[in-house]
Amino acid sequence: MKNILITGGAGFIGANFVRYLLKAEPEARIYNLDALTYAGSLENLHDLPDPARHSFIQGDICDAELVGRLMTEHAIDTVIHFAAESHVDRSIHGPGAFVQTNVIGTFTLLEAARAAWAGEPSGRRFHHVSTDEVFGSLAPNDPAFIESTPYDPRSPYSASKAASDHLVRAYYHTYGLPVSITNCSNNYGPFQFPEKLIPLMVLNATLGKPLPIYGDGKQIRDWLYVEDHCEAIYLVVKNGKVGETYNVGGGNQPYNIDLVREICSILDELRPDGAPHTRLMTHVPDRPGHDRRYDMDITKIRAELGWVPRHDIESGLRATVEWYLENQDWVKSVLGDEGYTAWLEKNYAKR
Ligand code: NAD
Ligand code: TYD
Repeated sequence: MKNILITGGAGFIGANFVRYLLKAEPEARIYNLDALTYAGSLENLHDLPDPARHSFIQGDICDAELVGRLMTEHAIDTVIHFAAESHVDRSIHGPGAFVQTNVIGTFTLLEAARAAWAGEPSGRRFHHVSTDEVFGSLAPNDPAFIESTPYDPRSPYSASKAASDHLVRAYYHTYGLPVSITNCSNNYGPFQFPEKLIPLMVLNATLGKPLPIYGDGKQIRDWLYVEDHCEAIYLVVKNGKVGETYNVGGGNQPYNIDLVREICSILDELRPDGAPHTRLMTHVPDRPGHDRRYDMDITKIRAELGWVPRHDIESGLRATVEWYLENQDWVKSVLGDEGYTAWLEKNYAKR
């Protein structure tokens, strides 16, 4: 790992990963390609450790000329691909962007790596960051997803990620491209855009706004603190086997409604003037095609690479709530954005 192309490194997980990698790999140079969509921000990249080893390039992963040039000009040996449209609710309102970025964008990157590495896989790696949502929805007593669980995506988001996973594997089998994939459960932590459940609830609660619970709130996600995800990706890129997929999950599986209650109770302690924040919880009509439950079996990554999550949900959630309370400049820049207000209006006003 010398010259690393990170895509989507101004987004939530990508920005956390850039920080992680600058510390973990003291010699590496990072080229961070990000289109700065609504979900990406340079504010996520302030105060990097050793910023001189990080170069930001604003651009689209679907731009074949740009991506090809970056691969050769910087002698890229490692691609770690985060860039995506990532929000299920937005994929319901506008699936086109998901097919474009997640499918065509991944294809464009694969082609650029294939051309630049010209059948010489040694010392190279194309790592694709994917999601547990490709496996579909579990019933209450179903066993957790393993790497060979058949794909059964049910939202435009998960279908587009499934398509990208298939393309990545096809490039391994057909062209010998040295790929690896991680499929990870729901992340939370600093810099997550407040369209996703946890930051949305924290910010709405601090503003005294309703906390919208979809349906009965008995859906289950397998929550993982973002730093643990970064460590898993790093270990897979360094020591994981080429051509393999690794499931990554947090082992924390509360009902959504209980998770929101826990956020409220942390806020009651840290912001007692708004207590009890549970009074803001409001049931709203369910998300169409809402997956009921996800659960990741992490036996493979634990056995092969010794990875287990370091954070439990109690400590991770508290650290996350504190981060949003302490980083008011970041919060204000998001809340002040017209696009964000328009999204809240579109997704919640007529629910
Ligand atoms: P995010 O939405 O916060 O960030 C995505 C980033 O990609 C943004 O910075 C955006 O500007 C950039 N981007 C979007 N389209 C682009 C394009 N066409 N060209 C270049 N850049 C573009 O997403 P995230 O939550 O950080 O997720 C990162 C990756 O991890 C995604 O591939 C996602 O599917 C996967 N993942 C996310 C989670 C989660 O809980 N957030 C869980 C598992 C896997
Ligand atoms: P989200 O953070 O959007 O992630 P994903 O859909 O990828 O799992 O949602 C997490 C869970 O929270 C999911 O079951 C939907 C639910 N949810 C709500 O109940 N209300 C909301 O306002 C949001 C955004 C999500």
